[in-house]
Amino acid sequence: MHGHYNNIYQLNIYLCGCLNSSHYIYNLISSCSSIFSSSKSMATSMALACYIVVLGISMLGLRGAEAQRAFFVFGDSLVDNGNNNYLATSARADSPPYGIDYPTGRATGRFSNGLNIPDFISQAIGASESTLPYLDPELNGERLLVGANFASAGIGILNDTGIQFVNIIRIFRQLQYWEEYQQRVSALIGPEQTQSLIEGALVLITLGGNDFVNNYYLVPYSARSRQYNLPDYVKYIISEYKKILRRLYEIGARRVLVTGTGPLGCVPAELAQRSVNGECSAELQRAAALFNPQLVQIIRELNSEIGSDVFVAVNTQQMHVDFISNPQRYGFVTSKVACCGQGRYNGIGLCTVASNLCPDRSVYAFWDPFHPSERANSLIVQQILSGTSDYMYPMNLSTILAMDSKKN
Ligand SMILES: *[C@@H]1O[C@H](CO)[C@@H](O)[C@H](O)[C@H]1NC(C)=O
Ligand SMILES: *[C@@H]1O[C@H](CO)[C@@H](O)[C@H](O)[C@H]1NC(C)=O
Repeated sequence: MHGHYNNIYQLNIYLCGCLNSSHYIYNLISSCSSIFSSSKSMATSMALACYIVVLGISMLGLRGAEAQRAFFVFGDSLVDNGNNNYLATSARADSPPYGIDYPTGRATGRFSNGLNIPDFISQAIGASESTLPYLDPELNGERLLVGANFASAGIGILNDTGIQFVNIIRIFRQLQYWEEYQQRVSALIGPEQTQSLIEGALVLITLGGNDFVNNYYLVPYSARSRQYNLPDYVKYIISEYKKILRRLYEIGARRVLVTGTGPLGCVPAELAQRSVNGECSAELQRAAALFNPQLVQIIRELNSEIGSDVFVAVNTQQMHVDFISNPQRYGFVTSKVACCGQGRYNGIGLCTVASNLCPDRSVYAFWDPFHPSERANSLIVQQILSGTSDYMYPMNLSTILAMDSKKN
């Protein structure tokens, strides 16, 4: 783990460096000095306070310039760290037993018993802390430089996905928030350092599952399912996803992990509603089987348009299939029954204090009817880090980290 601040020697060296490079800090120091020289009685304390401000700003500069890489997260409940806590929506995970295994033991808004995928990625890249939700009032000052999480449970590629959750942050809004974030950081550390922070950052985006579960298949004869047959619907959402990824690149993303959907038909919620003997729902499996390869295809196309491996496909489907086909091999007693829920497979309704709750969360692949357990999340991130090309295309995160550290 990194300390919050690097040591004081580096700080002093940096402070000298920034006198040359940054007019902003130079001007601040000049005005500090004029406070020193002009008045007498108040001078010492005011000047002291002023230098503390300069010192603080230089620390920000230090971290922006050469410290850890920032991390930004976009998408749905699989990666939401708590933005929906601040919204009037029913898509939330801010009450027990969510968070029962989180370090504080409290619900945070993560759809997990403990940590989620972004948390484990933050650890893997050596971040000082997990990304805060963008709407969290504590995401201010120096903490902005760690990155931010813009994800919002319930959203999808399409604007009409998750409409039943009313007030959620749709993907276009998430991208607008990222632009707003960049302006805020620019006011702190200047435009050049902001650009290098953004372009040096790691980005994760997780979309698509809800466009099936909370749109096309939400109700029988849904509007979208009357409009499109499944293959055409997949083509449509993939073409919309391509625009979103292109926009992400336009506003600065240079290393983007793009997850596919899991095996949608095998989650406890679908088993509960659609399965006769515990087999996965064929229809939802067909959706995932159409979506995932086309996602890899647009990633190939975008990378070749850009001329660089900006986008990296994460084969979450295969990662989940591994647990599902041989749960014991991964230390799970089941991959069909959710730890928290009720009814068949604990897959009906929401996970609440009134639900069945398994005593040992670490032996369940699914925490609630839709979301992986903390331990499943940790196994997924291990594959993101060091998986072979069957899991990570065109390369895994360890390779990215090694390549990018050579660049600097
Ligand atoms: C979704 O809404 C945004 C504006 O909020 C718009 O720019 C975009 O084109 C919409 N997407 C679709 C697929 O209609
Ligand atoms: C992924 O990462 C590991 C290091 O952890 C490396 O040995 C391996 O070759 C990588 N695989 C691919 C396909 O890049």
